[in-house]
Amino acid sequence: MNDNTTPEPTLVLGGTGKTGRRVVERLTARGVPVRIGSRSGEPAFDWDDRSTWGPVLEGAGSAYVSHYLDALPGAAETVGSFAELAVRSGVPRLVLLSGRGEPEAERVERAVRDSGAELTIVRSTWFAQNFEDGWRELVLSGEVALPAGDTPEPFVDADDIADVAVAALTEDGHVGQLYELTGPRLLTFEEAVDEISRAVGREIRYVRVSSEEFAAAAAEQGVPGEVVELLSYLFGEVLDGRNARLADGVQRALGREPRDFGDYARAAAATGIWDPSAPRAA
Ligand SMILES: NC(=O)c1ccc[n+]([C@@H]2O[C@H](COP(=O)([O-])OP(=O)(O)OC[C@H]3O[C@@H](n4cnc5c(N)ncnc54)[C@H](OP(=O)(O)O)[C@@H]3O)[C@@H](O)[C@H]2O)c1
Repeated sequence: MNDNTTPEPTLVLGGTGKTGRRVVERLTARGVPVRIGSRSGEPAFDWDDRSTWGPVLEGAGSAYVSHYLDALPGAAETVGSFAELAVRSGVPRLVLLSGRGEPEAERVERAVRDSGAELTIVRSTWFAQNFEDGWRELVLSGEVALPAGDTPEPFVDADDIADVAVAALTEDGHVGQLYELTGPRLLTFEEAVDEISRAVGREIRYVRVSSEEFAAAAAEQGVPGEVVELLSYLFGEVLDGRNARLADGVQRALGREPRDFGDYARAAAATGIWDPSAPRAA
């Protein structure tokens, strides 16, 4: 709370990540002051160090809450404790990023709701942007090897997630809503890679590998163990068809259709992100 002369910053946890940085960009463009909550933020915020939680909440007006491993056991206790502290610290307005069809993520949702927060849940399916932030090297190599078969997935665009989160953070009428976000079309991973291949005008093959092969390759590329664990869980258990249906969260929150994966792929390709001859900075 303040004297109304200085707007309170919106805290964006995971504000350097796939959805968080898009939320930061949009809030900043609207002139809303932002505080990034991540280990590289100022002050630094670390989910694994509770002494860092209070300082980032100090003086904030609302918060976008994205935990880096919400599908793994223990997340509900951690994020629930953070939400309780936020409410006690005078930051009850929370927008929570959640994962679709993930039992632990739903426990996180309940824990945050039980904190008494004025909550909006943004429950998302697989992000289209995983193909540029996470699996970019696979796309660049011309062979995307993942442990996913023929189960279709309605990939959602992280720009749509950020648009919904920002609407919820800045407009009335979203408290108490649960927005389930998907794209407008079901695609197998192979079909998604075909879309990328067409967008870049170069052959990119999809290859289905076993969970063990995927985990070994990811570990070899330096992917942190807990992220490999999370991805193996998501591919192995959550990609069983439970999410093979469209949802209308983007339409309900924004009054427009979500972006199609093909449009995403063409726009991403135009940035050069999948151009093997471009410098590999990102
Ligand atoms: N990717 C998907 O398709 C998808 C779909 C649905 C739900 N989700 C969920 O969305 C969440 C974010 O996943 P993501 O893949 O999009 O990751 P991300 O947001 O792109 O990256 C992780 C973010 O968390 C921060 N971070 C990492 N470790 C941290 C720590 N110990 N303490 C504080 N901040 C930390 C990172 O910043 P620093 O490195 O600066 O700390 C970064 O901002 C996860 O819970 C995931 O399950 C993801």
